[in-house]
Amino acid sequence: MDVVVAGGHGQIGLRLLRLLAGGGHRARGLVRNPDHVADVAEVGAEGVVCDMEALESLSGCCTGADAVVFAAGAGPGSGPERKRTVDLGAAVKLMEAGVSRYVMVSAISAGRPEEWSEPMRPYYEAKAEADRRLEESGLDYTIVRPGSLTDDPGTGRVTVGTGLAYGDIPRDDVAAVLLAVLLTPASIGKTFELLSGDTPVDDAVANL
Ligand SMILES: NC(=O)c1ccc[n+]([C@@H]2O[C@H](COP(=O)([O-])OP(=O)(O)OC[C@H]3O[C@@H](n4cnc5c(N)ncnc54)[C@H](OP(=O)(O)O)[C@@H]3O)[C@@H](O)[C@H]2O)c1
Repeated sequence: MDVVVAGGHGQIGLRLLRLLAGGGHRARGLVRNPDHVADVAEVGAEGVVCDMEALESLSGCCTGADAVVFAAGAGPGSGPERKRTVDLGAAVKLMEAGVSRYVMVSAISAGRPEEWSEPMRPYYEAKAEADRRLEESGLDYTIVRPGSLTDDPGTGRVTVGTGLAYGDIPRDDVAAVLLAVLLTPASIGKTFELLSGDTPVDDAVANL
């Protein structure tokens, strides 16, 4: 498999790139800072300098890919404008990059507007709109909606579903689920929430 990860220097992105490269897949990570290429190489992947907000088209960053994963984000220190240009805008540009398989890292509350606090509204509005655009895109999509991300070591066990009570999940386990999704064609067309749990990752994804 040949996979491009947007947000290649992100905390989930680097974990996923490491898993992909370790599994013998071609793994490219899009980064905006040229200094980050070396960190991506350190996990066995290829860093591609690609500022998704600055570029009109991301096609040139994704040539020949079988799948793309959107694991980028403007981050907590950014204002509403960058939620629109990254969490929504870059996600949509990636939908238009000419790759038919698309895996989205969304967020558990993106589909639950009743949970949105006012400060978080611009973020969730951007995530929800990106998810909606992807579902309507005609692409072979999977939307993964994790709870709060932690840096605890992964357990390899998760809970997937819809309407889950709010909880958290290690980034390690999110990356493992993303890999399993990429390897499981039956996950195409699915949108699901993701938390820590008791089910081995491969079983959880196989039974979506
Ligand atoms: N935090 C949570 O609890 C939580 C919960 C559920 C879902 N999520 C979602 O999960 C995503 C991934 O999480 P994470 O912890 O891996 O995030 P992260 O470490 O902040 O990674 C996001 C990456 O996106 C990159 N990026 C931003 N703007 C870019 C641009 N214009 N072009 C290219 N790359 C750009 C950043 O690059 P730079 O390093 O150059 O800034 C960063 O490396 C989050 O963004 C969020 O949407 C988060």
